[in-house]
Amino acid sequence: MDKLLIQGGRALSGMISIHGAKNAALPILAAGLLCDGSLNINNIPPLQDIQSMIQLLRALGVTINTKNETEIVMDARHITGYHAPEALVKTMRASILLLGPLLSRFGQIKIPFPGGCAIGQRPIDQHLLGLKAMGAEIYIENDWIIGKSKKLTGANIVMQLTSVTGTENIMMAASLAKGKTVIHNAAKEPEIIDLANCLIQMGAQIIGHGTQKITIEGVKRLHSTHYHIMSDRIEASTYLIAAAATRGCIHITDINPRYLQSILHVLKLTGADIEIFPQSIRLDMRNHQPRAVNIKTAPYPGIATDVQAQFCTLNAVAKGSAYIEENIFENRFQHCEELIKMKARIHLKKNRAWITGIEKLEAASVCATDLRAAASLVIAGLLAEDVSEILNIHHMDRGYFDLEKKISQLGGQIKRISVQQKMIKQEVFI
Ligand code: EPU
Repeated sequence: MDKLLIQGGRALSGMISIHGAKNAALPILAAGLLCDGSLNINNIPPLQDIQSMIQLLRALGVTINTKNETEIVMDARHITGYHAPEALVKTMRASILLLGPLLSRFGQIKIPFPGGCAIGQRPIDQHLLGLKAMGAEIYIENDWIIGKSKKLTGANIVMQLTSVTGTENIMMAASLAKGKTVIHNAAKEPEIIDLANCLIQMGAQIIGHGTQKITIEGVKRLHSTHYHIMSDRIEASTYLIAAAATRGCIHITDINPRYLQSILHVLKLTGADIEIFPQSIRLDMRNHQPRAVNIKTAPYPGIATDVQAQFCTLNAVAKGSAYIEENIFENRFQHCEELIKMKARIHLKKNRAWITGIEKLEAASVCATDLRAAASLVIAGLLAEDVSEILNIHHMDRGYFDLEKKISQLGGQIKRISVQQKMIKQEVFI
């Protein structure tokens, strides 16, 4: 197991490129199960969650050849099973994305219930509601989801709340169902648009993706294609927030600014100067302290829950006081306790963190509790005077590829060492 050591005090500045989006790549890999041919996917981020999904698909008999670090070719024509191994499913909640494709294409599924996680209970009732409406029989027995179906049939599905992976599961299942499916109150996240675009390239008939009403006309088969995954708007936002918090100036490339509009709006409110180009964004916060901003997380196009933790850190060193309200997950403020160890002034009340900014955080040994919490602590480390230590960074590896390399490229001082390694922290950066 590794940990990160970060010597704070430097503003981030320079240029970095953004990887492919984890939360688009995961459903697109699952969609490969629907393809009656080979699916060539590139711009896949080389992350731990992606490795877990690849292992899961291989365990089901899918052939996956890795062409290079970011490109694979998968072929699910000779799948051997529909029973996903428990050890693999439990490592990654996104394994729930196998539900729709396996039921639709193979008529059977047996996967362990992915369970709750650090950020909340995360029920799957909306996934099941949609698939049952299409004719699947699904029940949960001893923590396993067991399902079977004859040919799924199109249905009119009204989701009671917007769920990203729920919408994705139903959209994938409906692509090979008999007849028309309409999803009302669908999630509108860009990753859903990316999945729909990939399915359309495979021959699916989908309209309305990116709106709250998606209509899918089932087709008999989906065929081979090449697909390029969209870039990661959460990775991009994380670096922009880090640059604003450290009062730096960065230019991020390989990103579609259209999908960051609400985040860019908030960053402008903090006082950042932002320039937008067709495929890149430049943020300049040199020489001034960011202003604190009130934020309420919401489904897209609102402020994503996946940047809430990073904005908590920014507010911790901003001018003034503001609140951050979490409206998506019930337990996503665990990073605040760690930030308090670094002397951040945070008061938690229900789903709000009230934060009063201070000039500098103090270095401490802190522990990441989930992926985005890890990102918020890395930013905090960059803001502290001395050397901070971040433990449990396997959470970070699930969603940020080459983070140390990118931070170093921007002038930050960061090192990964083994938790067993005994070193005087300050010596690491001599
Ligand atoms: N919910 C239900 N019932 C359901 C489904 C969801 O009550 O059947 C609730 C959830 O408990 C939550 C809310 O609805 O309170 C929204 O959950 P959603 O289903 O949209 O989340 P998800 O699909 O499980 C995806 C991302 C998350 C991201 C959320 C919200 C993937 C693989 N995961 O999760 O990403 O936070 O949408 O945008 O796409 C991350 O990358 O760090 C991450 C957690």
